[in-house]
Amino acid sequence: MTSRISLKAAAKINLYLEITGSRVDGYHDLVMILQSIDLCDRVDIRKIGADEIQVLCTNPEVPCDRTNLAYKAAALMQDIYPEIGGMEIVIDKQIPMGAGLAGGSANAAAVFVGIDRLWDLGLTQSQLCDFAAQLGSDIPFCVFGGTALATGRGEVLSPLPDLTDLVLVICKPRQIEIATAWAYQTFRKQGLLATSQVKNQNLSSQIVAAIASGGDSAPNKIGRLLYNDLERVVLPEYPAIADLKNKLLDQECLGAMMSGSGSTVFAIAPDLDRAQQIAEAVRTDEIDVWVVKSLVRSIFDA
Ligand code: C5P
Repeated sequence: MTSRISLKAAAKINLYLEITGSRVDGYHDLVMILQSIDLCDRVDIRKIGADEIQVLCTNPEVPCDRTNLAYKAAALMQDIYPEIGGMEIVIDKQIPMGAGLAGGSANAAAVFVGIDRLWDLGLTQSQLCDFAAQLGSDIPFCVFGGTALATGRGEVLSPLPDLTDLVLVICKPRQIEIATAWAYQTFRKQGLLATSQVKNQNLSSQIVAAIASGGDSAPNKIGRLLYNDLERVVLPEYPAIADLKNKLLDQECLGAMMSGSGSTVFAIAPDLDRAQQIAEAVRTDEIDVWVVKSLVRSIFDA
């Protein structure tokens, strides 16, 4: 019987993030387009004799206690399926934290998928996404993967046509980590919902159409339609992120935008050569840069 599994867990970017309402549960109603990208953590899960959950991570800054989303995912599954025994979860961290790339959510998604496979639970993707939604708004997408339209608080997912070979330059200011809750609460406190920049413009439908159009012109169309409401609170507070975005826009890219609540900013490049040139132009001691492609899935064998 298999006693271990090694999975890759992909980061995501937001090609679109519109806040459409505030909810009584304190969350916000969103319309998002989410995209898996080839910047992955590796998550190894091993059955152990003791009936406990141990989390280890290559990045010492990641808490490995009960607050870790991977730990929470394992604990939730043990509650629902008491036959699941103990496990050791080792996370090889490549996705930066506080980056708006859903690194922690990706790890939790890998734990849900990994436990299903290791203990042969036979769960459907929809069941895994329901469990995932109990722990965080981005985790269902991290199970789902590819390109998707997300509504509700981010957990209601519809697949969009695969975006293959979208070339991206991912830039993370090393010293800036942003708490997602702060970004949404500030958006609410500043009353920004009332001054929506895109309401009635049908912008989300336009970018969905651009994705569906496929072909060589799709990246160009998508690049012009990128949108993120959270830039309205994050960029004024963190001028370094605004500068980074402007620096990317000064390059020959097809569009640039902050991902999620930041601090990552990404650019869509016309091809890999241009992406490497853009990366060299913006990389400094303060800014980590990756050139990656879009992925059509999020959790897969390492
Ligand atoms: O669901 P998750 O724990 O990832 O969300 C982190 C925080 O982001 C929430 O506590 C909430 O403040 C904010 N949030 C929100 N509306 C959403 C998703 C997240 O206000 N749809």
